[in-house]
Parts: sequence; structure tokens; C-alpha cells
Amino acid sequence: MEIKVLKSYKELSSIVADIIEKQLKEHLLSKLALPTGNTPLGMYEELVSRKLDWKSVITFNLDVYLMNPDHPQSYQSYMRKNLFNKVNIYPDHSHFPFRPTEAFEDKIEGSMGIDLCILGIGNNGHIAFNEPGSSFKSRTRVVDLFEQTIKDNSRFFDSIDDVPKQAITMGLGTIMESKKIVLMANGDHKLNILNVAMNGEVTEDVPASILQNHDNVEVYYCD
Ligand code: F6R
Repeated sequence: MEIKVLKSYKELSSIVADIIEKQLKEHLLSKLALPTGNTPLGMYEELVSRKLDWKSVITFNLDVYLMNPDHPQSYQSYMRKNLFNKVNIYPDHSHFPFRPTEAFEDKIEGSMGIDLCILGIGNNGHIAFNEPGSSFKSRTRVVDLFEQTIKDNSRFFDSIDDVPKQAITMGLGTIMESKKIVLMANGDHKLNILNVAMNGEVTEDVPASILQNHDNVEVYYCD
């Protein structure tokens, strides 16, 4: 699979924002799947600055920690801070994975499916919180986070003990039903896993490798 290498983080953020802008302008009733983490921060900043019309947009976040949604490090707080409080999206239109997870899946299905899914990639090849070994058929569910992921995400918390050990994540099967997928990766520490995922064996040991089986995926990288 082609990995499009970009010159800078600014270019990465702006190219993915262009793809979302095009989607929103061409389809008023767009359904997006959205990531959190470090990588998309610049993209959200760019999107906010473009003053797009979000009033008919429906969003589904890829994952949430199992924690109080009002905690400052929850993914709900992240999304409010970086996007939802700054654009004209209806609060009822932004969805986060919840239990029972089948009801979250029903919500996606009831909206007629995800048009555009934006992904980051974890150092171990996870997408959303589908850790290595996740079934390619998996649906939204509660998962235990791997030690590595807890360690990687501890930078956002006062102490590693504060990092939640569980999350609710969209499944790989759920993600693969998106009509279009864009994966963004930032930093040379991601290059090796990106190459393995995009051009190595398609295996449940490398969750992102499932994207090789999707016919509408774009992958962007900057170091
Ligand atoms: C977060 C998510 C994760 C991150 C991945 C990379 O919603 O889905 O898969 O995309 O852990 O995180 P960063 O961008 O912080 O390196």
C-alpha cells in the first residue's frame, strides 16, 4: 500500500482537514468516525479555523477510556475541548462508544454507516483500541489495554496508575465497514510499524494490517 510521505506535521494536519472539508461540503449529512490522541490535534485546530458547517454532521468516536466522561483526560473532554465546543455540531449528533455496545453499533447502522473514518496508529499497530490479537471480525466492545498502550498514554496523566486499564473501542469489523478510511501517523517512531502494517503480512497480530483489505484507504505520514 502507498504511504504518502508529507513534509511536515502542518501539511499532514492540513491534508487530512482538506479530506474532511471535502466530505462535509459534498455531503451535508456526513457521518464521521474520529480519533483522539496527539496525532490529530493539528487537524482539529485546522478544521476549527476553517469555520465549516457541522450542523448536519454526525460523529462517532473510535474509542473511550472506561472512566468518568467529565475527567479532563477522558476522550469526551478531549473532543469537547478540541472540536465540539468550537464548531456548530449538535451535542446529540456526537456519539461515543457506550454500553451496551450493541446499541452503539445500532446507532452507527441506524445512521446508514460511516462515510469517512480517520485513524491514528499505536506503536504496536493498534487502530482505535484494537490491540494485537483482536479479531478482524470484532465489533464494538470493552477491551483491556495492553501494558505498552497504558505506558504510551501515561504522558497525559499525572501518574501511570491513573491511566484507565480498560476502554470501549469500535471493532475492526466495524471500522472496515466505513466507506473511506484515512490513517495518519506522525513521528519516525511510527514508521516501522506503519510499513509492517501497510506492506507486511495481513495478520491479527498487527491490527492495522487489516486496512490492506479495504479498497478505499489513504495513509499519510510525516516524521
Ligand atoms: C485514539 C485512538 C488510538 C490512537 C493511537 C495513536 O482515539 O484511536 O488508536 O490513534 O494510539 O495515538 P497518538 O496519536 O497519541 O500517537
